[in-house]
Amino acid sequence: MKKNTAVLIIDNEKDVCDTLAAVFEDEGMAVFSAGDAATGIKLIEEKPIAVVFLEVTLPVMGGIEVLEKIKKTFSGVEVIMMSERANINIAVRTIKAGAFDFLEKPLSIEKALVALRNAQNMSRLREENIMLKKQRKREERIIGDSPAIQKVKDVIDHAAGTDARILITGENGTGKELVARAIHRASKRKDGPFIAVNCAAIPDTLIESELFGHEKGAFTDASSLRKGRFEMANGGTLFLDEIADMSLSAQAKMLRVIQEQKIERLGGERTITVDVRIVSATNKDLVRECKAQRFREDLFFRLNVIPVHVPALCERREDIIPILKYFLSEAVPSGVVLSREAEQMLVEREWSGNVRELKNIAERIALFLPDHGDTALIDINVLRSVSEMAGKNEENTRQKTADYDILDKSYGEAKAAFERQYLEYHLAKNGGALTKTAEEIGVFPSNLHIKLRKTGLL
Ligand SMILES: Nc1ncnc2c1ncn2[C@@H]1O[C@H](COP(=O)(O)OP(=O)(O)OP(=O)(O)O)[C@@H](O)[C@H]1O
Ligand SMILES: [Mg+2]
Repeated sequence: MKKNTAVLIIDNEKDVCDTLAAVFEDEGMAVFSAGDAATGIKLIEEKPIAVVFLEVTLPVMGGIEVLEKIKKTFSGVEVIMMSERANINIAVRTIKAGAFDFLEKPLSIEKALVALRNAQNMSRLREENIMLKKQRKREERIIGDSPAIQKVKDVIDHAAGTDARILITGENGTGKELVARAIHRASKRKDGPFIAVNCAAIPDTLIESELFGHEKGAFTDASSLRKGRFEMANGGTLFLDEIADMSLSAQAKMLRVIQEQKIERLGGERTITVDVRIVSATNKDLVRECKAQRFREDLFFRLNVIPVHVPALCERREDIIPILKYFLSEAVPSGVVLSREAEQMLVEREWSGNVRELKNIAERIALFLPDHGDTALIDINVLRSVSEMAGKNEENTRQKTADYDILDKSYGEAKAAFERQYLEYHLAKNGGALTKTAEEIGVFPSNLHIKLRKTGLL
């Protein structure tokens, strides 16, 4: 994406343009100036302008009119208004029309610089936000046209118009959470919140307070009131992931909440009415869990109003190549071609980790391919190297020889040794999945790539 970073000054007073331009240029910015509105607008069309300094009283087309036009046509551009006749009315009018800030003349250079920095930050944040939203949309598409996945999509469509509770089942990594999000997006609750709770990740002792919230002082650590996930999901969808791992006492409470559509915070007297649609998911066989008395049968029936089973990848092998190409399309913009043997190998192999495993392989292929800008060929050799890479990681964990003599090393060497060991450990723990590892250790995937290369792990 093209990044806009330049500044434009629109003022009929040449002195103002020249002074501001000199200051901003000293700060290393690209600066353009215009003495009238028409020239200014033309510059916005042609140059990578991020921020405009705009005089309110301009001849021909007034500043406020220009501001409105900019906001309508170039919504990503931030505008800082300037005026000598600074009265509160004009300031309020311009801010209402979408100006980012208002500066009084004669200008204080310091204030102008602060306003510029703030506006630049805002424009950067906005760009990032747009990018993240796009990425999110991409991540949420369910790829595949196999009859098996089509059946899932049909149930999602059918369930969209209802508020019925849905139970999603399927092996690890088949896309259960993706399906849950798709159900929310297709429903009339789509503008409400989608709140996910991983029941397996929350200790038994905390699950009730997590779900239902607690009042201040409800238990020793409850230093303040806390809303539970049920309340947070009001008006939207509550996604209860790994539902089979919920404790029996939490199951009993859950049943009551479902029957009454009301919750009570722990330590609270008040009942709070909530309007929540529950979608749950599990990779366990809940019928068996019920028989073994680990799951309440009455709760199972309530949650399982509409069952959705997400098939394992080996039951929809025709989706493997389209999903792989989809994952690769972003990482390899020049496109990929798969050799016939490579395609066959991928379609026929075991996929015990399902789509998540396929995603890991796509990430590895993307890293492996040379960066030429030509269409990349993925053949058997590429696939072999990629699985060798995965093998190397596994070996590393098995060995996991802790470098305890790290304390005798120089600072630089100790740091490098620790970094390598740390990365190896987390990478192996996540089966070599880069995005997941990056998320777990709290760094950006691009940074993780750099670190892995630096430490010789890639
Ligand atoms: N059909 C699909 N099209 C595109 N991406 C998919 C598809 N199915 C799954 N994915 C992606 O694969 C990854 C795993 O999916 P998801 O987390 O939904 O699986 P899950 O069944 O919840 O796994 P787990 O049981 O391990 O929690 C996610 O990144 C998801 O976006
Ligand atoms: Mg999941």
